[in-house]
Amino acid sequence: MEKILDVTDLHVTFTTYGGTVQAVRGVSFHLNKGETLAIVGESGCGKSVTSNAIMRLIPSPPGKISNGTILFKGKDLSKLSEKKMRAIRGVDISMIFQDPMTALNPTLTIGTQLIEGLKQHQNVSDAEAKEKALEMLNLVGIPNPAERMKQFPHQFSGGMRQRIVIATALICEPELLIADEPTTALDVTIQAQILELFEKIQDVTGVSIILITHDLGVVAKLADRIAVMYAGKIIETGTKRDIFYNPQHPYTKGLLNSVPRLDAKGKLQPIDGTPPDLFSPPAGCPFTPRCPFAMEVCNKVYPDSSKLSDSHTVDCWLQDVRAKQLVTTTVTKQ
Ligand SMILES: Nc1ncnc2c1ncn2[C@@H]1O[C@H](COP(=O)(O)OP(=O)(O)O)[C@@H](O)[C@H]1O
Ligand SMILES: [Mg+2]
Repeated sequence: MEKILDVTDLHVTFTTYGGTVQAVRGVSFHLNKGETLAIVGESGCGKSVTSNAIMRLIPSPPGKISNGTILFKGKDLSKLSEKKMRAIRGVDISMIFQDPMTALNPTLTIGTQLIEGLKQHQNVSDAEAKEKALEMLNLVGIPNPAERMKQFPHQFSGGMRQRIVIATALICEPELLIADEPTTALDVTIQAQILELFEKIQDVTGVSIILITHDLGVVAKLADRIAVMYAGKIIETGTKRDIFYNPQHPYTKGLLNSVPRLDAKGKLQPIDGTPPDLFSPPAGCPFTPRCPFAMEVCNKVYPDSSKLSDSHTVDCWLQDVRAKQLVTTTVTKQ
């Protein structure tokens, strides 16, 4: 399978008056062409910083990509000039943000915004641009697109606005779409419709998608693979099947227990405690203080990644053979 994106050992820091925030601490993952990778984790774990780093939208100062490579079709985005990056942004890679209102200009009709978005990057006539805008509005399911093009963002509902934002992101036919919590601001029913829309778009265009969310429920339908983030690190990654049916990191298990499920018998269990302060992240596994299985070593040393299968990787000391023996003995003693 062709890798469209390959991120290795990405570190992002923010220097503030209070000290240096280590927002992303050695993140590695890849995305195959045409697939959807979901990056999941609690608020503040570094999801947006990771996606902004790929787009090179980390404000600097205070932010900085302090280490790592971001290979997009073999080219390291972390090393590109701002000029070269500008030619990629919105054209080869597009991003959709959480709040559809801030992504649209309230003073311009949506037709103008779509057409300008295309003309900014491609040498097309007005008529061609208009044609393409109509095609995009059709694709994202806006009824009467020719009429609606003449209207302003406030004349649309939240869900319709997010559809328009998606159309603006797609108009230059990007190969990679990064959607950062694209449904968080929407009602549950509208959320489901937007998620279905992503599926349809991928079917029609073949675009590769990174879907960022704090809600595992959202990814259940859409993702091919899932990367679980905690305190600036990816602590487990696998196919949707690996993560939902064979989660191995106690944090992933905790996340799954806190997702409402139709077949759930027991109560939802939130994970007690809070993530660590990223000003001085712990040397060991950052989940240790909240982990029901924590051992002494967990606090001191960060675990190596264990490869459970070709698709499934987890960073947890419980995977160490010595820990496995320990766990087995404890269980048999009971
Ligand atoms: N501009 C900034 N200045 C300082 N810290 C920041 C900045 N942007 C993000 N951070 C910090 O980086 C960490 C990760 O944030 P973020 O990626 O936005 O989390 P989320 O997973 O919710 O998207 C947080 O601790 C956040 O406070
Ligand atoms: Mg975020």
